Formats: sequence, structure tokens, C-alpha cells
Amino acid sequence: MPSKIDMNNTKILVIGACGQIGTELLVALRKRNGHDNVIATDIHYRENVSPEIAPYYKLDVLNTDALEALIVDLEITQIYHLAAVLSAKGESNPTLAWDLNMNSLLSVLDLSVKHKISKVFWPSSIAVFGPDSVKENCPQQGVTEPSTVYGISKAAGEQWCKYYFEKYGLDVRSLRYPGLISYTGAPGGGTTDYAVDIFHHAIKGESYTCFLNEQTALPMMFMQDAINATLQLMDAPYKGIKVRTAYNLSALSFTPEELEKEIKSLIPEFSVSYAPDFRQAIADSWPASIDDSAARRDWGWKPSYNLKAMVREMLENLWVLQAE
Ligand code: SER
Repeated sequence: MPSKIDMNNTKILVIGACGQIGTELLVALRKRNGHDNVIATDIHYRENVSPEIAPYYKLDVLNTDALEALIVDLEITQIYHLAAVLSAKGESNPTLAWDLNMNSLLSVLDLSVKHKISKVFWPSSIAVFGPDSVKENCPQQGVTEPSTVYGISKAAGEQWCKYYFEKYGLDVRSLRYPGLISYTGAPGGGTTDYAVDIFHHAIKGESYTCFLNEQTALPMMFMQDAINATLQLMDAPYKGIKVRTAYNLSALSFTPEELEKEIKSLIPEFSVSYAPDFRQAIADSWPASIDDSAARRDWGWKPSYNLKAMVREMLENLWVLQAE
């Protein structure tokens, strides 16, 4: 059972708070738990982040002593560990990607046991799947033989989460996020980043050159859905969580061409050309769609945004931000 009962004094540490997920998750967690009960950390110096992010601490998550000091000094009860090197960037420096992704997770898991952290969230990814995985409606228990170092670190990390749960009773929960699409934080070197970049070009009246071919269907999700899924998973009763590796999570599956068409329905003059690069092989190794029936069954997951609604929401918000 969870060891630290933190009903009234939840203190959450978010690691990687300035990243694409962290930017929005931080806001959502602060709304629910009280602003000052959610501590932001990231690798950036304090003077280089927006003052509104405070309380904020600069943290290199590989510095285990610094991480432990924060956990102890701030009386942290929950940890959301979001820092990672993503799929495309990881291929240019596999050792760095492995080191950051794996060793940071192991430190967080170890320190969580040591300091009786009640709940840990760590994201996994569709990148755990590989060329031998089922392409359509890829099942929860399918083959996970990834072809990127990012995918290898996520597949191994999932097993570590399960191990810490089974061996130490640590309540660590995880989701296999698909490509995430948001208008706030920028994605950090993934293969699905095209589905964010394309909007930034569209609203500036620029054409876009896509690094995947037009037929590449991938699992995707609007960030609001990803945040809802994360909070829902973390709120779910302990006993309901049957998957202690990471849950498959699904909302959308579309190709660059389908996204282009949808954007063009609102910006008819927008144009896209296609010039696939090394990221095409990564995308081709992933499933096109995901079976998330375990998440739906165990904690009631259901996405809200379809492609049309996501595109409208993205463009409307980016236009507002551009006008500011
Ligand atoms: N969005 C990630 C990537 O492309 C997948 O989890 O690397």
C-alpha cells in the first residue's frame, strides 16, 4: 500500500517542468493541489524561465544528491518525472539518451522508496513498440522490441517501474503517450514533432516541409486529453491499476496528409511539401494505432478531442498567442 498518506499535505515535485508535457501538467496540478504545493524543476537557470513558474528550482536530475535534497527539504510526497531525451534527438547521442532516460528514472525510483513517496508518475511512449509490433490497434501486451534508444529506455523503464512496484510496493504509474500536440510548450526532438511544427508554419502564412511522408499514420493526441489521462490515472484507486508497466493510451491516428487537409479547411492557402528524413524509419517502426482498452476498462479513460476539434483548438489558440 502507499506509504505516505498525503491527503491534506500533498507536495508534488515536477521534474522537467519546462518541457512540452510539463508546461501544461504543471498548470493543471497547481489548479488542483494549490499553486505552492507543486514545485517546478528543470535544467534551466532560474533567470531563463518565466517568473510565473515559481516555485522553481534548477535541477539536473542526474545529480542524485541535489534531487534528494529537494525531496527532503521540500517534504515532497509525489513525483512526476518528465525529463527525457526523445526519439529523434536520442539517435544523435544514444549514450546521453540512455544515461539521462534510464539513470534519472532509477534515481527517482530509489529515492521514492527511501523517502516513502506516495505516488510517482513517469511517462512511457508508443516508442516501446517496434517493427515486429502489430501495426493497427497495437495491443497492450504486444511485442515491445523498439528500434530507437529512446524506445529501448522506455521499454526498460517500464520493467523497472513494475519491478519497484512488485518488490517495494512503490505506487508508480505510467502511460504510453502517443505523439502529443500542444500550443504551449514546444516538443523536444521527437518523431511526431511535425504535427506541432506544421501549425506554427500555417499560422504565420508559411508553407511547411514535412519530414515524414504524407501516408505515415501515427497515434497522436491533443495535450488536453493527455493531461486529463494523466490526472485520471493518478487519481484512480490503487487497486484498479492492473498494468504496472505502462498503459496503452489512444485518441487519434492520422497521416500528415490528413492533417494538412484539416488545416487547409481553415487556412485554404496553406501548402505542405514532403521530404522524409531519418525520422521516417523511426515512424515506420511504430504502430499506426493503439488499442487502449485496458486503460478504458481499469480507470475509465476516454479521449475528448477528434482531429477536427484538435485542429480548430490549435489554430485558435496559436492565433491568440501570435496576436499578443
Ligand atoms: N513523441 C515522441 C517522439 O516522437 C513519442 O513518444 O519521440
